Amino acid sequence: MEKDSLLPNDIARLIELVRERGLPQHVAIIMDGNGRWAKKRGLPRTAGHQAGTQTAERLIRFAGRDLKLPYLTLFAFSTENWARPTEEVDFIMDLLDKFITEKLAEFEREGVHVNVLGDMTPLPDKLRQRVDQAVRETAGNSRLVLNIALNYGSRQEIIRACRDVAKRVASGEVDPAKIDEQAITTSLYTSEIPDPDLIIRTSGEMRLSNFLLWQAAYTELYFTDTLWPDFGPDELVRAIAEYQERERRYGSVEDAE
Ligand code: FPP
Repeated sequence: MEKDSLLPNDIARLIELVRERGLPQHVAIIMDGNGRWAKKRGLPRTAGHQAGTQTAERLIRFAGRDLKLPYLTLFAFSTENWARPTEEVDFIMDLLDKFITEKLAEFEREGVHVNVLGDMTPLPDKLRQRVDQAVRETAGNSRLVLNIALNYGSRQEIIRACRDVAKRVASGEVDPAKIDEQAITTSLYTSEIPDPDLIIRTSGEMRLSNFLLWQAAYTELYFTDTLWPDFGPDELVRAIAEYQERERRYGSVEDAE
């Protein structure tokens, strides 16, 4: 059976079920474990990133086409990832460039709207132009909003938002006493997208690592030992099914009297 076109019956049934129960609007994923996946196979870390990219491609197609999820966010490169060996950073940058170049036509065809979260200025020129092109050319698509967090760090994002608000205060546009959640929210990279309902992290690590800290205030978290290259559509559906079993109270109580 072909991996992407036909789904086995039980997963098709599970998809139906999670769709009937009401999908989360926004799922965000910390794709972790590429290096360990490669090490286990005696391969260089770069082979793990290569395999991880294929996993991302498969999942994007599945989320948009089969699941019809409105928003998917993938943490591709953090502000801290620059500290990795230059060859690895260069490899990831090339991989992302190739990924966007090769997928652009498919995104167009499948109605994927590409969005980026993060500071694009330090990226290699070629990748930055490619990212700009993808964002521009897919801006009219609306089936799936795909947010790629690239050179993204949540604290940096919050600092940037504070600077933005401070500027508006200095110019007299905003009264400091009137600064509220909305004032910060509108200055974040995610101003146009809803907060994530579910954050998934692969590879057994149980932390957020500077990812969507403000936006995750009420987000459900799902951790799995699966290494990112092995994370398939079936596990995404299972994570969503588990999320649907949880009760989200947003700080309230179950039966408020
Ligand atoms: C995490 O594994 C992977 C990264 C930080 C690299 C970037 C992600 C990809 C290349 C996946 C493709 C993304 C897109 C949007 C196509 P790790 O290297 O931290 O693994 P380790 O913890 O086992 O060393």
